Amino acid sequence: MKRSRHQHTTPGGMNRRDFVRLGAAAGIGAGMIALDRAAFAAVPEGLGPAPEMPFAAPPIENVRIGYVGVGGMGTSHVRNLLGIEGCQIVAVCDIVEEKVANVQKMVEEKGFPKPTGYSRGERDFERLCAEEDLDLVYTATPWAWHVPVCMSAMENGKHAATEVPAAYTLEDCWKLVEGAEKFKKHCVMMENCCYGRAEMQILLMVRQGIFGDMVHGEGGYLHDLRELKFANAGEGLWRRKPTLERNGNLYPTHGLGPIAQCMNINRGDKFDYMVSLSSQALGMELFADDNFPEGDPRRDEKFSNGDYNTSLIKTAIGRTIMVQHNCDSPRPYSRINMLQGTRAITQGYPDRIYIEGRSPAHTWEDLEKYREEFDHPLWKQLGPDAGGAGHGGMDYMEDYRLIKCLREGLPLDMDVYDAAAWSAVGPLSELSVANRAQTVDFPDFTRGRWQTWQPLGLVEA
Ligand SMILES: NC(=O)c1ccc[n+]([C@@H]2O[C@H](COP(=O)([O-])OP(=O)(O)OC[C@H]3O[C@@H](n4cnc5c(N)ncnc54)[C@H](O)[C@@H]3O)[C@@H](O)[C@H]2O)c1
Repeated sequence: MKRSRHQHTTPGGMNRRDFVRLGAAAGIGAGMIALDRAAFAAVPEGLGPAPEMPFAAPPIENVRIGYVGVGGMGTSHVRNLLGIEGCQIVAVCDIVEEKVANVQKMVEEKGFPKPTGYSRGERDFERLCAEEDLDLVYTATPWAWHVPVCMSAMENGKHAATEVPAAYTLEDCWKLVEGAEKFKKHCVMMENCCYGRAEMQILLMVRQGIFGDMVHGEGGYLHDLRELKFANAGEGLWRRKPTLERNGNLYPTHGLGPIAQCMNINRGDKFDYMVSLSSQALGMELFADDNFPEGDPRRDEKFSNGDYNTSLIKTAIGRTIMVQHNCDSPRPYSRINMLQGTRAITQGYPDRIYIEGRSPAHTWEDLEKYREEFDHPLWKQLGPDAGGAGHGGMDYMEDYRLIKCLREGLPLDMDVYDAAAWSAVGPLSELSVANRAQTVDFPDFTRGRWQTWQPLGLVEA
């Protein structure tokens, strides 16, 4: 039998600390249970219209980068960047000195000057942002630091790039949007899954009309992270905490980003409202009981996050999207990757497709069958370069495109409005879960511009 938990809950089912935090993010007072939908969706006071055109900055010949947070993902991005023409790692920051030294060595071994190191504590990135002559600050720190690093970068005249999710409160989503507009800087969330080979092939097929009109999508982050979250190193040092304290979709953007791009979210459509439900939280405590000896403090931890979270989004022009999150159960990996159009359907894991009039009736076909005809130009041209890079090559693609767009003065493939809208699913799911799956409205981070902004171009390498 499992222990009982959730002892300190409000009548809405939410623990008091979370409720106060979410209430503060929404601008509602602690103690109130009723959801003030308007307050959540409201545009911050004093914020004018969003720009008429997607933001592009003057071209930068050689992109000087300060990297903040060089653990697993940060080091992997640095490795990619060292192989991409027209950029240089000029400074590196981590709270762990040896990690800084490791990256300094990697950079020098590639024939570049040694980057300046910053490791005087958790806010030393502020010194990096203030003192270094940089074009871009790129962060792969734990979630809590994404917004502080991006804001410090932009305040000091640098573009900002962050790992996912960009933010996990609505207040912080708006902060990034306001910062990017005020300082006229890029603030991009690096969603690598938008660059997967299958995802890019689907995007191309959608753009070429193979799917007809988009109707429905399903995405998720279904990844057994129990062992990693309990580890005494790497993500284990910080990624368990949100599972203890929050209840909703903690990591929405991997599955959602590619669907949003196929549906032209923020460029012809927008997320309008959503509902969310979480199952019980059993997996983490069971894992602790099964794997740690009596007396290990991890056996006493009480987890808040439901093992399975399911959210349903309605878009402004009527489409539906399901987004799921489950990192606490035994299961093979999946991001679902399902898209239904009026003329075709695709689903991932394994990648398959059915195209009306082309596929045998009622029969799935292997997506690879259509690779030659519909492989995305980026993959066609860069595939061999991406070969050994992280997550099947998509991490290289995203870093390559970031540098390329900055060098050519182009709008980025994803912008701050995407970062805000995709990340907002996290806090909105928490709100809905805590309120018996009540409907919650998305803020319109574009302030109406989604109706006039044009879909992204199909990029070349
Ligand atoms: N896109 C993907 O596929 C993917 C995969 C894994 C992780 N991530 C994201 O990357 C980020 C980092 O994850 P990770 O797996 O590399 O974790 P990690 O724990 O391996 O690395 C985080 C690093 O940040 C450092 N750090 C912590 N606080 C800091 C601060 N205030 N200033 C400077 N450095 C600080 C840590 O010492 C560590 O080296 C997270 O946002 C995570 O969600 C994305």
